[in-house]
Amino acid sequence: MAILNLPHWGLVTTTILSCLASPALLAPVESDTERRGSQPVRIPMGQSFHGPTFNLTYGNPPQTMVMLDDWTWHSTWFYTPNCKGNYSVPNCVLPGQNFFDYKKSSTFHQTSDAVQTFSGTDYAPGLPFTVNFGTDKMCLPDRNSHDNICKPKVEVEVSDLPYEFPVVEDIGGIFGYAPVLNGFNATFLPAPYQFMQAGAFSKEVGWHMCTALKNKKSCDNQDYLTILGGTETSVYRAQSMQEHPIVVTPCINAGNLNLSPARDNYWSASWTGLWIGGKSVALSAPSTGQPPVPDASCNTINPVAIFDEGKFGDGAPIPLAAFPSIVNATGAVKINGSAVILNQGKQGLYSVSCNKINSLPNLTYELSGKQNITVTPDMYIDKVAMPGTCLLNARAWDRTKNGAQTFFGTTVIEKTYLKFDYEKRTVGVAPLNNNLF
Ligand SMILES: *[C@@H]1O[C@H](CO)[C@@H](O)[C@H](O)[C@H]1NC(C)=O
Ligand SMILES: *[C@@H]1O[C@H](CO)[C@@H](O)[C@H](O)[C@H]1NC(C)=O
Ligand SMILES: *[C@@H]1O[C@H](CO)[C@@H](O)[C@H](O)[C@H]1NC(C)=O
Ligand SMILES: *[C@@H]1O[C@H](CO)[C@@H](O)[C@H](O)[C@H]1NC(C)=O
Ligand SMILES: *[C@@H]1O[C@H](CO)[C@@H](O)[C@H](O)[C@H]1NC(C)=O
Ligand SMILES: *[C@@H]1O[C@H](CO)[C@@H](O)[C@H](O)[C@H]1NC(C)=O
Ligand SMILES: *[C@@H]1O[C@H](CO)[C@@H](O)[C@H](O)[C@H]1NC(C)=O
Repeated sequence: MAILNLPHWGLVTTTILSCLASPALLAPVESDTERRGSQPVRIPMGQSFHGPTFNLTYGNPPQTMVMLDDWTWHSTWFYTPNCKGNYSVPNCVLPGQNFFDYKKSSTFHQTSDAVQTFSGTDYAPGLPFTVNFGTDKMCLPDRNSHDNICKPKVEVEVSDLPYEFPVVEDIGGIFGYAPVLNGFNATFLPAPYQFMQAGAFSKEVGWHMCTALKNKKSCDNQDYLTILGGTETSVYRAQSMQEHPIVVTPCINAGNLNLSPARDNYWSASWTGLWIGGKSVALSAPSTGQPPVPDASCNTINPVAIFDEGKFGDGAPIPLAAFPSIVNATGAVKINGSAVILNQGKQGLYSVSCNKINSLPNLTYELSGKQNITVTPDMYIDKVAMPGTCLLNARAWDRTKNGAQTFFGTTVIEKTYLKFDYEKRTVGVAPLNNNLF
């Protein structure tokens, strides 16, 4: 008997599992990846509560998984029916929850990697995020070729929670992308990186979003576009792309980032300047009063911008001491109420007059002392969270509590192309072409 996994159209090699009965196929042959070469994989993405999402399949036969795209996560995570030490769909999975049923996959193998537990995640706030590890076949849908780009034995995290998950999430997994540092083992390799290692596509990832554009064509009519192994060259000029080395420092964890165990492998850049309407704003640690962060050496470094396309990145980061300046510069007034999709923090909500948006100042963010990202008022004023009200979507960054790092998310990068390079460990930044707006 031979189970032949027939190749999809255009695939170069085939995964073949064979048993003794088939003399021609005595030795099991399993390719590293079902497609080799330099063709990038194009993945348009929609929206979930936590951030951008897309579907992939995992397992054999393939199970459709709704994945959160997350540059800050270091692996791939799947929700499974394991909880409180038992496998049980009725006990561990709420109706409507997307999950990976590993018992229904003939090729799933749990690995011997020890259980790991993270706390302080956005997915299980306040609860331990406990994972086992396993391998199985993963297929990524490529909008370019309409192929599924598959790789067997992709190692992932599978949930093994010490509790029943309390709510239904609109995602069933997390597709992480964090950069891979020297010495990392298989439990710290995001799925796209494992595909890259197998030669499925080159070691870069391109990304842009289409919400601020005249139309969403370049995102295949969705909100975001990820390119694995390339970039969407039609939306930015190659000569305007600047590459910023990521910043790897324990100072990322010197404040209240709260992820435990801590990590410092993020797509990041040194944040060297901020101007509100052309007026420079200090990013340095306050020189008086209590020590800003536990490790004094973290007070003297440039802050670190961590790129995060999920909800933690929402809002334009503004140093706490400069918050009154942006309130003043925009004529914003404090209002009551809460808008959960805004990452507004303790400073509360401010509204601005909707007919004044075009006269408000630009915000200018400088990276590595060599490139500015301009944030125009239409980007930092939110008209959606509280219908009828124009909200200031700025997030106070308190260096004394948050430490040297802050998130740069969709508010800052809505009009920017990003390229993550796993080999050079750089973030390429280029403005999207003006004719798109
Ligand atoms: C993704 O999969 C979910 C669950 O099967 C399905 O409801 C949804 O329509 C899919 N989304 C896309 C864009 O195919
Ligand atoms: C786990 O499953 C076993 C066997 O089905 C059962 O006896 C035990 O009570 C279960 N434990 C929990 C915590 O549900
Ligand atoms: C892999 O790396 C993680 C993070 O450093 C570590 O916690 C884990 O123990 C390592 N696992 C093995 C098998 O070395
Ligand atoms: C607000 O701006 C005005 C001028 O635009 C300035 O005179 C005033 O000092 C500012 N107030 C604060 C608190 O920055
Ligand atoms: C905001 O709420 C506070 C306390 O509930 C109340 O005293 C105040 O009048 C409210 N302000 C507005 C503008 O509604
Ligand atoms: C803000 O930036 C935009 C885009 O770069 C530019 O067109 C505009 O003139 C700037 N506005 C001001 C007031 O400088
Ligand atoms: C960024 O913009 C500010 C304010 O206009 C300017 O002073 C600074 O030189 C610019 N930085 C770069 C690298 O262009």
